[in-house]
Amino acid sequence: MKKPLILALIILSFSFTDCQPNRQPNKETTHAFANKIDSLLSLMTLDEKIGQLNQLTGNGEVTGPVTLSQNYQEAIRNGQVGSMLNVNGAAYTYKIQKIAVEESRLGIPLIFGYDVIHGYKTIFPIPLGESASWDLEAIETKCKGCCCRSCRRRTTLDFAPMVDIARDPRWGRIMEGAGEDPYLGSQIARARVRGFQGNDLSENNTIMACAKHFMAYGAAEAGRDYNTVDMSKRRLHEVYLPPFKAAVDEGVATIMTSFNEFNGIPMTGNKVYVNELLRHQWNFNGIVVSDWGSIAEMITHGAATDRKDAAEQAMNASVDMDMEGHAYLHHLKELVSNGVISQNQIDQAVKRILEKKFELGLFEDPYRYCDIEREATVTLSKKHRSLARESARKSMILLKNDHKTLPFSKNVKTIAVIGPLGESKVDMIGTWNARGEGKDAVSLVEGISNVVPDARILYAKGCETEGTSTSEFNKALQIAQKADIVIAAVGERAMMSGEALSRQDIRLPGMQEALVKKLASLKKPMAVVLFNGRPLVITEVAKVAPAILESWLAGTEAGNAIADVLFGDYNPSGKLPVTFPYSLGQVPVYYAHKNTGRPRIENSRYTSKYIDGPNKPLYPFGYGLSYTSFSYNNLLVPETMSGEETLLISVDVTNTGEWAGEEVVQLYINDSVASVTRPVKALKKFKKILLQPGKTQTVQFELTTDDLAFYNRNWKWVAEPGYFTIFVGGNSENTLSRDFQLVYNNKN
Ligand code: NOJ
Repeated sequence: MKKPLILALIILSFSFTDCQPNRQPNKETTHAFANKIDSLLSLMTLDEKIGQLNQLTGNGEVTGPVTLSQNYQEAIRNGQVGSMLNVNGAAYTYKIQKIAVEESRLGIPLIFGYDVIHGYKTIFPIPLGESASWDLEAIETKCKGCCCRSCRRRTTLDFAPMVDIARDPRWGRIMEGAGEDPYLGSQIARARVRGFQGNDLSENNTIMACAKHFMAYGAAEAGRDYNTVDMSKRRLHEVYLPPFKAAVDEGVATIMTSFNEFNGIPMTGNKVYVNELLRHQWNFNGIVVSDWGSIAEMITHGAATDRKDAAEQAMNASVDMDMEGHAYLHHLKELVSNGVISQNQIDQAVKRILEKKFELGLFEDPYRYCDIEREATVTLSKKHRSLARESARKSMILLKNDHKTLPFSKNVKTIAVIGPLGESKVDMIGTWNARGEGKDAVSLVEGISNVVPDARILYAKGCETEGTSTSEFNKALQIAQKADIVIAAVGERAMMSGEALSRQDIRLPGMQEALVKKLASLKKPMAVVLFNGRPLVITEVAKVAPAILESWLAGTEAGNAIADVLFGDYNPSGKLPVTFPYSLGQVPVYYAHKNTGRPRIENSRYTSKYIDGPNKPLYPFGYGLSYTSFSYNNLLVPETMSGEETLLISVDVTNTGEWAGEEVVQLYINDSVASVTRPVKALKKFKKILLQPGKTQTVQFELTTDDLAFYNRNWKWVAEPGYFTIFVGGNSENTLSRDFQLVYNNKN
């Protein structure tokens, strides 16, 4: 007990009144806590400093390979640990924090990290699904209200949001991000960071966010997780970096480096991008944490001779925290003694970590994140479940709805639910389901019986999600035959997307496609409900199914939310944040592609196309139907824009159907001739509006030259004068368009 007194003396020797909250914690707090941090630093030995840079895994989920075991409680006592991840339960977190605060020499509290990716206990839709809502306010509210309040009882640092752009649906982690587009991805990154962190990290409903994985991790070759990334500087800056920059501008507290190498250098040791770009050009003063073991993995990459070499490279790249890599703890001291790493480098890293501990208020109350009472009451509360249901409804996308098959009438007498995922609970919550439990989730069959209690529901599996057996087909068809309507519940199990869960074949696995075809041949009113963590190739399904609802892996309330949509309690409004390919051979396929010198011309030999399939995807980015319909008219774009002004654009959107409905009005641009080729379309703005039947709203957008700018041939950020096209519509393919000319009056 005498040791923490040392710390208490330091802390009390300063007034806490100078620790005012601020909106940009990265910059201003450096000054607010500088004196306290310096005094604390002056008391620390080199070993204790290095200890602060060490993050170890605890008693919870193992989310990576454990290569060296260590008695973490003993290490904490010895001042060898600054942060833990995966520590389970408020009571245990309290116990571990108590060891740090009361039994280590200086009593410096620990940061606790955890992957709260889409909810805690109450699980929300996977992030890709949530992104399909294009509803920034709802996303922010979700992060603020639910994730933080629930998980803050044990966690100080949330390893989210993943802001990696992903254009290859084979990659299992596409489910964790916001899809393919840098603009949408940046807006969502900002919303998520705001939601997690709020204005003040010391408030009791905020938590440190972590923008991950820096960088280009989503561009792994062939969609195989952890694979090599090799790309041009232009693509990196135009596509993969913007969401990270957006997160930094929003004040994100931490950034995680990625496992991949980038153009030959593993990112955890990549000085050019982590130290020079992120730290110096972007001015990021928060904590950079490695990914799990990624410092030591530089050896396996073939870029470091041993852990010591890896530690040196990571330190020089300005990585502050070694997640379960044991490289810093065991080798930094020697590197400092040999003069390879300077004391100052260590001090800077330690300062960044201590600063966050001060901002979080951990020195005032180290146990503020160990709220046992909150653990019991807040998680899985009615309120959270109802927010999860709302969020799940918003995430769903109506991909097809011939002859207004959906919504089904609630007066139907008999409903057949057929398919391996119809009764599944555990698959609803996806991977990274932070303490979520299948038993708490609502299956599709349960959801339907909640929403349509008077109907008779018949269920048959039909087949397994994987495997080749069709022996259950006949039974399933007989059951479907007895029903008024058929709902096919098909797709991927939860454990088919997420980390290290890439797939080579992204059609419906097993015999599910064949099952859907058989069901469709019955010619009953039928809807296919898709469960999946990635875009799937469902071209064959789309040929036969009258209606298709993309439900992703929608979380604890999945079944209720799907039933709400199927039976008309909610009018679907989701739009694809990522393209659905026509065939696997098209991958990567994305809307913002280049024109090429020989764009596809039908029946023309020497053009850019496939001889065995279309160039166009099955469903384009931004696409999604509604139970109502919208028409777009009167796109007004001034003929010229002077470089100094803002371009005002307007369009009339009318609800031409019979349902009130939400529409995401999307604005894209094309720069027709430029010093470097530009994408055929690039999303620049969007607005989500609610329209009553028969009503029209004039939707306005403003563009500045910054929205038109790009790095030119000389790598200067400019909007070049000339002609541009504006496209406005309800998806990236069907749009109205108008041209305008950008002119600069001031020749200088
Ligand atoms: C590895 C994953 O890549 C990362 O996203 C996660 O935060 C860490 N493991 C910790 O679980």
